Amino acid sequence: MQKLIIEGSRELRGEIRIQGAKNSILPIMAATLLCDEECIIYNCPDILDVKTTIEILQYLGRSTTFEDSVLTVKPGNLKKSDIPEFLMRKMRSSIVFLGALISKTGKAEVTLPGGCELGPRPIDMHLSGFKQLGVRINENHGKIECSVIKRIKGAEIMLPFPSVGTTENIMLAAVSCEEVTTIRNAAREPEIVDLANFLNKMGASIDGAGESTITIKGCKKFNSASHKIIPDRIVAITYLCAAAITGSRLVIKGIPKNFINSVIPLFEETGCLIKFFDEKNLQIYSPERLQSVKTVRTMPYPGFPTDVQAPVMAMLTTAFGTSVFVETIFGSRYKHVDELARLGANIKTEGSVAIVDGVKNLSGANVSATDLRGAAALVIAALAAEGVTIISNIGYLKRGYEKMEDNLRSLGAVIKQSM
Ligand code: EPU
Repeated sequence: MQKLIIEGSRELRGEIRIQGAKNSILPIMAATLLCDEECIIYNCPDILDVKTTIEILQYLGRSTTFEDSVLTVKPGNLKKSDIPEFLMRKMRSSIVFLGALISKTGKAEVTLPGGCELGPRPIDMHLSGFKQLGVRINENHGKIECSVIKRIKGAEIMLPFPSVGTTENIMLAAVSCEEVTTIRNAAREPEIVDLANFLNKMGASIDGAGESTITIKGCKKFNSASHKIIPDRIVAITYLCAAAITGSRLVIKGIPKNFINSVIPLFEETGCLIKFFDEKNLQIYSPERLQSVKTVRTMPYPGFPTDVQAPVMAMLTTAFGTSVFVETIFGSRYKHVDELARLGANIKTEGSVAIVDGVKNLSGANVSATDLRGAAALVIAALAAEGVTIISNIGYLKRGYEKMEDNLRSLGAVIKQSM
């Protein structure tokens, strides 16, 4: 089991370039299944979830190369339309292959990934969307079999909640149908826009991605496409938190302002200044001690992202005053709280609310990561803590953060990995 050992209480200095977005690359990799020609994806992050997705593509019959952030998916016979349980369990988001397999092969079989570190993650909205497109669904002891009855048919689908994965899955399933499908109350995240742009390059006509109503006019044959993945806004905000808690000045490159607009007021409230010196490059200036913030309420995009709730909470553990968090997206996303407490944080939770009373100092301890963003939160807290922190279970971090340890070391952090 790999561990990170961090000697904290040091300022960071320098600049960092932001990797490609995890939550863009995964559905785009699933979308490459639609095409029988080569697809080239640039700015592909070197993270564990990409490696798992490569395993899925290879299992299904595609071959891939991945070097220097360039992923090439080569044509090959699609041999299968199922994803085995061990791959589904490695990565919940493999559920997005359902839509692509339905489009490509007319059937798909996956196992339900089961309970997870963020609480229950049902897929009822995905399945209801598929049914409306003419897909027959058979659920049996944790297995889900989808088959297209005659053909995928266009539909008007109203989502009860703007679910990211459901919007992607419906886009991927509807894109092989030449009739129009409309998704209302669709998710609006930049990663949805990235997927739509990629599908359009392959020959689809998708309008409205990034807005609440998306129309999809699909096609029968998909062209080869090349595409550059958008920057990862969650990673960018994670580094902002690392800078803020350590009172540092950092340059962060390659992140458009509109990707992080929802968090800029919060950083300003803490006393930080985020200055964009051009379209995609910023500098953050942080005070010696942060101020607390009133209420952080996670919301679907363009609201405050749930994926940075844990890193931002870690950042505010040493702020002056009390900050309140309300997690509205996931039922159980406070598993990092107990681990932050081992470092000296003072946080109380009740249901979806967490109250953080800022302490003057954190101090190093042994902690264990419980999920991807919770792991990032522990790194942030450890960077500020006095003494040495040992974080175990860092496999979680590697699912979504490319070379975080090297990046932080290049910024002056004292950090190393051990077995
Ligand atoms: N939900 C249902 N039924 C469904 C689908 C979703 O009840 O059929 C619920 C979920 O249980 C959750 C809420 O709706 O409570 C939001 O789920 P959503 O479908 O929007 O999330 P997701 O597609 O499973 C993606 C990201 C998550 C991110 C969420 C919310 C990917 C691969 N994952 O998950 O990213 O937190 O959107 O923005 O895109 C992460 O990167 O750390 C991460 C967890």
